[in-house]
Amino acid sequence: MLNIFGSNRKPERISPFKKEDMQEYIDKNRAILDTIDNWIDDRAFSESFFNYGAPDHIKKDINKKINTDITYSDIMVYIANKYFRTVNYLEIGVSVGKNFLQVINSCPGLANASGFDIENINPVLEKQLSLISEEKWDTLPNSIKKDRSSLRKYSFGKIPSINYLSGDVWDENNWAKMKNSSFNLIFSDALHTPEAIIFEFEMLVKYNLCAEKFVIVWDDIVGGMQEAFFKIYRKYNKKFNAKEYYLINTNGWVGQYEQEHSIGIISNFKFRNP
Ligand SMILES: C[S@@+](CC[C@H](N)C(=O)[O-])C[C@H]1O[C@@H](n2cnc3c(N)ncnc32)[C@H](O)[C@@H]1O
Repeated sequence: MLNIFGSNRKPERISPFKKEDMQEYIDKNRAILDTIDNWIDDRAFSESFFNYGAPDHIKKDINKKINTDITYSDIMVYIANKYFRTVNYLEIGVSVGKNFLQVINSCPGLANASGFDIENINPVLEKQLSLISEEKWDTLPNSIKKDRSSLRKYSFGKIPSINYLSGDVWDENNWAKMKNSSFNLIFSDALHTPEAIIFEFEMLVKYNLCAEKFVIVWDDIVGGMQEAFFKIYRKYNKKFNAKEYYLINTNGWVGQYEQEHSIGIISNFKFRNP
């Protein structure tokens, strides 16, 4: 059944997030980024499948200090702190861990954070965590990932549950490993293709990965991704009764050194008077 907005609802284009309300989190995020001088581990990069999703024009700027213009990391940390007492975070596409490290440091309410990427965990990120256990399983033979898939569990300070799943988004076995995790903040930032984000949506539903109250943020909603985003909205709306629906521009992982990113946001609660 359609909600009061009907199926042709258009996403809001003006950000509901004001810089003056976010300053505390922006400052915290910049301070965390300043603790890492070099995100690149040359050996890990030479053994990687996609250079951790960092093409040369990004790689050359990845260690540069970014200014205080709002980034998608600031938005996610703000949402986490403002709307959730307990945060269960999933990041699909972690890369070297720039956004992931900000989220796990800037959310006092974090109970669990799970990263999911085809690459093995970047040693620079892993150095921040304490390994508890590792489980491995066979990767589907047709995957571009050529080694075994794995789930590493870590603690991070007082946070007992940080997971890193090294596996292909297209390999359903990986989603099954996360079955019934109640993620309330999800960031989709892996393949950036319409087919992949629609498949991810199907996996989130099939394996019951969304908490009762949740918000999802997608990066790079341009071109064909926009059509997929609209389609996902219609499906989410039907299944979860979406309340907020945004398509806004903001900075990304290298801040002012690249064009703004177009991010999509859907939540099943209201940002005002949640
Ligand atoms: C743009 S980067 C992520 C940036 C990160 N979210 C941040 O903000 O710091 C995209 C990541 O998606 C991963 N990726 C690409 N294809 C994938 C696949 N089929 N399965 C899992 N991860 C994939 C890449 O390895 C890369 O690390």
